[in-house]
Amino acid sequence: MLTLGVLASGRGSNFQSIIDSIESGFIKAKIAVLITDNPDAYAIERAKKHNIESLVLKPKDFADKNAYYSNIAGELEKRGVGLVILAGFMRVIGKALIDRYRNKIMNIHPALLPSFPGLHGQKQAVDYGVKISGCTVHFVDEGMDTGPIIIQAAVPVYHDDTEENLSERILKQEHKIFPYAIKLYSEGKISVEGRKVTVKTERRDSFFTNPVRES
Ligand code: GAR
Repeated sequence: MLTLGVLASGRGSNFQSIIDSIESGFIKAKIAVLITDNPDAYAIERAKKHNIESLVLKPKDFADKNAYYSNIAGELEKRGVGLVILAGFMRVIGKALIDRYRNKIMNIHPALLPSFPGLHGQKQAVDYGVKISGCTVHFVDEGMDTGPIIIQAAVPVYHDDTEENLSERILKQEHKIFPYAIKLYSEGKISVEGRKVTVKTERRDSFFTNPVRES
């Protein structure tokens, strides 16, 4: 069975959606560890509630970025982690981890990449005045939110939207497409060639084309 390692910096609602999807049987995988850079992350409480080990690893306790991410890679390997999940981990991942988990690190980003990478993807969309935004699950490479795209979901942006209500609308979709991407991966249905990700599924459905229904 696929073993996941989750990295998160804060609230951890995406982490929770993955826990729930495993507990309901939607995803057949187990979570070996939560690693956080923030000792106050609510994600730690969520891990405790579900008997998932958590580790707090702060960059400032390591000599440099390379040492930090080598250490994280070591902790993940020690626990047999096959897929690393970035669930609101608010740092650019170091090469030391990417090299050891090439195309085995998935991130969720709250915009339709390649639009609005980096921080505050939702605010960037509101400020720019786009009419459609959404979220993206992608593999992580050395760039800032530039890795191969796995799944996207779109949501409308209304003229009176604020960062807050657009974030809420996008988050509902995040909680659907991230578990779905992990499920597909765990079933061996995702392959990557260069930038192109192929998803082997009969379901040419709303996950790939239209906004995902909220119900
Ligand atoms: C989510 O909206 C996620 O897409 C975003 O942070 C939030 C974390 O929420 N990630 C990024 O902006 C990464 N650049 P959560 O802690 O409740 O899952």
